Amino acid sequence: MKIAVIGVGKVGSIIVKGALRNNMDVIIGSRSGKSTFGEIPTYNIGRAIELAETIVIAIPGSETAKFLSRYKEKLIDKVVIDVTNDITNWPFHHANEAKGLKYVRAFSMLGFEVMALPIIEGQQVDMLYVSDEAERETAEKIIRSTGLRPVFLGGIDKADIIDNVLHLWGTLAAQYKSRNLGFKILGLNDLKKKE
Ligand SMILES: NC(=O)c1ccc[n+]([C@@H]2O[C@H](COP(=O)([O-])OP(=O)(O)OC[C@H]3O[C@@H](n4cnc5c(N)ncnc54)[C@H](OP(=O)(O)O)[C@@H]3O)[C@@H](O)[C@H]2O)c1
Repeated sequence: MKIAVIGVGKVGSIIVKGALRNNMDVIIGSRSGKSTFGEIPTYNIGRAIELAETIVIAIPGSETAKFLSRYKEKLIDKVVIDVTNDITNWPFHHANEAKGLKYVRAFSMLGFEVMALPIIEGQQVDMLYVSDEAERETAEKIIRSTGLRPVFLGGIDKADIIDNVLHLWGTLAAQYKSRNLGFKILGLNDLKKKE
């Protein structure tokens, strides 16, 4: 599976590094098409989408709707992982504009600092995500590669709930003046043991 990360800023670079640590095949798509990240093959956005099976959108949330509209044809049949938050609108996601795509919403409900170092007080931090059933394996592989624990929240109809969790995270970050905060859903390991 080749992964194209579009936008290698604070969040995109964490996903690229996680993929590299796990020997995954990763390329970068950028507006310039020029490498800003060492030796990783870098292409213009359209070409990066064509070359990969999984596309991670890690660009400013204000650009996501335009991005989806411009590249929708190329994104058909790809797994599209949307990390973006369009924080001047509610909801922050653009799942409606992604209808017809294999859409995953992940890496959106925490600050990037925690995604970069996802162990707090000795506990592995959870990353909640939504997707259709068929995309779960791909989504979880990429989430795990960053060191976060994937927690499936349900189908795309639950995307607003993920955004509410970000709202909760932001409220806690302001209250405690710290971005080094994460969530842990307790009880899931016991459920797995019973399966
Ligand atoms: N920062 C966080 O803590 C955090 C946490 C969760 C989710 N998010 C969301 O993740 C997304 C990325 O955030 P970030 O903090 O990683 O941002 P960032 O550091 O500013 O990086 C954004 C990247 O997007 C590229 N870019 C900008 N405009 C673009 C466009 N129109 N088309 C294609 N690429 C474009 C930039 O590359 P060039 O300018 O070099 O082309 C840059 O690499 C945002 O939607 C944000 O809401 C952020």
